[in-house]
Amino acid sequence: MTAVRTATRRPPGPQEPVSLGIDAETLATLQDLRSRYGNMVSVEKPSGRLAYFINDPSEVRRILVRRHGKYVKGPGFERVKMLLGNGLIVSDGDVWRRSRTMIQPAFSRQNVHRLMAVMVQCCDRRAAVWARAAADDEAINITSETSDFALELILICIFGADYEKRIIAGGENPFAFLSRDSTRDLSVVMRVRQVRQLLLDIIASRRNGDGGDDFDFLSVYLAATDKNGGAFTDKELLDELTTLIVAGFETSANTLNWVWYLISGNADVEAELLEEAGRILPGVSAVNVESVAAMTYTQQVLEESLRLYPPVWLFTRRSHEHDELGDYDVPPGTDIYLSPYILHRTEDFWTDPDLFDPRRFAEAGKPQKDRPYFPFSLGPRRCLGEYFSFLEMKIHIGLLLPKFRMNRVDDRHPGLDIAINLRSQKDIMLQPALR
Ligand code: HEM
Repeated sequence: MTAVRTATRRPPGPQEPVSLGIDAETLATLQDLRSRYGNMVSVEKPSGRLAYFINDPSEVRRILVRRHGKYVKGPGFERVKMLLGNGLIVSDGDVWRRSRTMIQPAFSRQNVHRLMAVMVQCCDRRAAVWARAAADDEAINITSETSDFALELILICIFGADYEKRIIAGGENPFAFLSRDSTRDLSVVMRVRQVRQLLLDIIASRRNGDGGDDFDFLSVYLAATDKNGGAFTDKELLDELTTLIVAGFETSANTLNWVWYLISGNADVEAELLEEAGRILPGVSAVNVESVAAMTYTQQVLEESLRLYPPVWLFTRRSHEHDELGDYDVPPGTDIYLSPYILHRTEDFWTDPDLFDPRRFAEAGKPQKDRPYFPFSLGPRRCLGEYFSFLEMKIHIGLLLPKFRMNRVDDRHPGLDIAINLRSQKDIMLQPALR
């Protein structure tokens, strides 16, 4: 009997092999493939592996939501693994499911609300630095300022009082290299390994009942148990803490960097933000859950900034069982590329896609699922820190913009640095003036 072999139905694509990484060339390649072949493209990599680039909103949703179980994290994650071990962002299958179930409660709204005072405190520290710069008529590097803000915030949220007592006790923040060094190469991995001993010491002292009476992420992680009553081991905790530090600061820092850049070049947007902040957050004492929720225009500005500059600009997956997308087969072992950056700027789905227009997020009643928008991903692996980051960013803008007018030192676009995260190529300098 002859076996009947059905040919794999593949989306259109070039005959010649195509290299794909996580870099500027890959962005240009994907944009070119889309313009030549449409929203579903297949390529063969130089290694012979099949890869699909999917820019069709419903198929993207299908991969991330309904069929997510057929995919694991894809190419590029090996490098992240060197940094984050088997923490939540890189793990898959049962390991991921167990960790996600144990960690998710830490991010309940009720818990995140307990961290709002820390968000205000970190804004106050930035305000003091910016006020000195304004008085001395000096420009500030908003790229490193937003990095310092977000790094300090996530470290206090994780370690509570241990941040002051143990982390910066020596005068230097041992994690500062994360906000200063934009490469994610081996030297960063080595430095992360060096601070692991400090983290182990803090974990050990917490396990001995020392400190951590207040709410912080570490105390929730330490108390978390799986369905068999098991807790995280020290090694698992190390991976999860490193994941939380990296995931929690870099994305918010990059977003705020772009937000300040966009606001400083759009007087109308700035005026509307100021009006809202003046009405809703007249001062620090007005910061509470209800007032921050009422900052709807600030929310739109943040969403629009994340549309134009999604920090995680490319997601990769690899199929581990057969799937079908539209009329096409996805054989096991196919690499999948999805790009919020490209989808958010595809003219079929967004009018005037390169225009910064926060009002496009004001269309009340527009069903979310019709919007090809996923800066935080979708489905079961959606970002755990989404609510936290909006709260952090709304408080940051709501408290600091009314204090400082920020003027651009250079009107040219700072360019894009396209690696695992989307950053500005040049640091953005702004001249603060007290209002
Ligand atoms: C503007 C801010 C942020 C953006 C745009 C963002 C975006 C994302 C994206 C796209 C993913 C999924 C990546 C993938 O599946 O390949 C993710 C995962 C994750 N994010 Fe965020 N993130 C932000 C802030 C935060 C913050 C502040 C925290 C923690 C405090 C956080 C914690 C996490 C964690 C733990 C995961 C892994 C979830 C899982 O795989 O189960 N993120 N984030």
